[in-house]
Amino acid sequence: MARIQIHGGVPLEGEVRISGAKNAVLPILVASLLGDGPSRVSNVPHLQDVTTTMELLGRMGAQLSVGDGMQIEIDPRSMEHYEAPYDLVKTMRASILVLGPLVARYGRAIVSLPGGCAIGSRPVDLHLRGLQALGAQVEVRNGNIEARADQLKGARIIMDTVTVTGTENILMAATLARGTTVIENAAQEPEVVDLADFLISMGAKIHGAGSNTITVEGVDRLEGTTYSVLPDRIETGTYLVGAAMTGGRVRCTRSRPAHLDAVLNKLADTGADIHVGEDWVELDMRGRRPRSVDITTAPYPGFPTDMQAQFTALNTIAEGTGVITETIFENRFMHVQELQRLGADISVKGKTAIIRGVSGLNGAPIMATDLRASASLVLAGLVAEGVTIVDRVYHLDRGYEIIEEKLSGLGARIKRIGSAAA
Ligand code: UD1
Repeated sequence: MARIQIHGGVPLEGEVRISGAKNAVLPILVASLLGDGPSRVSNVPHLQDVTTTMELLGRMGAQLSVGDGMQIEIDPRSMEHYEAPYDLVKTMRASILVLGPLVARYGRAIVSLPGGCAIGSRPVDLHLRGLQALGAQVEVRNGNIEARADQLKGARIIMDTVTVTGTENILMAATLARGTTVIENAAQEPEVVDLADFLISMGAKIHGAGSNTITVEGVDRLEGTTYSVLPDRIETGTYLVGAAMTGGRVRCTRSRPAHLDAVLNKLADTGADIHVGEDWVELDMRGRRPRSVDITTAPYPGFPTDMQAQFTALNTIAEGTGVITETIFENRFMHVQELQRLGADISVKGKTAIIRGVSGLNGAPIMATDLRASASLVLAGLVAEGVTIVDRVYHLDRGYEIIEEKLSGLGARIKRIGSAAA
């Protein structure tokens, strides 16, 4: 199993090109199943979750081809199975996203019910309730969600909780429903908007994506389309935190800083100088130690839970004490114990972590537990004195494209090595 080895202590300096957004490309690839013809999706990041999604679509019979610069063509005309099996769903919960498109376009779907995951129980009840409101018959049997519908019908759906993939599933299903669907308390994440824009380019009629009320007028059919995925705001934020922690200066290019307001405000509070253009953002820490920041995670446009672990890492070496409250997932402090192995002073009580900044961390072997937690461990390794080895980096590969190459390009002493023991 691959590991990442880091010799800490080098400030990150330079320019890094941001990849397409993981959380946008997954629903977009899946939404291509709604079309009557092939779709071409570009700016696709090279990630394990993309490979898993391609395998999922391929097993269902879609034809896939990969072109230059990670452009993927998906042709759904050869679809013949409508099932997402457990072996794929258990490695990627976002597989649940096939449910809406399959029921809407093909009238049936079997999707293995995702179990618990490292960061919490993560139910999918709101996905199922939304599809039922659209007229689908949904049953959970033998560990599978089985859904059927001859023709979905528009409905007014009020989401109990803001859910990103839940909103996306219902949005995709509603595009081919008869009549009007209104999704209230919808997720407002930029990735939901990117999916809506993709669907609109296929011929869907959608208004209000990006607000908390999305209205969809169902259409009879959708066409294949050509689309470029938006840049990854979480990847951008991760490199900027790396610059702040190491006292460096990093410019992220091909980015969309407008999607990072909450994160950039907190980075400014650490004492960093931040400059933005339309498609780039630069953070300069000028060799200073960051100040701690208090954070409460919230749905967009609030502070993203997917940046919580990185800011926990930042607070470990910051001046002062930072309080981080996680409101989205109940078990998202798995990185804390690993950071403590590097010398961090953190106490966790329920949803809150209190982090007292220490003057330095010391390298040690540590273990990645989930995707964003792994990123925080790599960031901590960049400042720790000596050698840090991060094990189980397959978590990182799910969501960060060539992270060690990108960090090496910024001057970090980082490399991928083989397993400790067979
Ligand atoms: C998505 C993102 C993930 C991010 C998360 C929150 C993708 C592929 N993943 O995950 O990176 O961390 O949004 O921004 O886009 N909930 C229910 N019932 C449901 C669905 C969700 O109670 O049916 C709860 C969850 O347990 C959680 C909250 O709603 O407490 C938000 O989760 P949700 O937005 O659904 O997360 P995902 O869409 O799985």
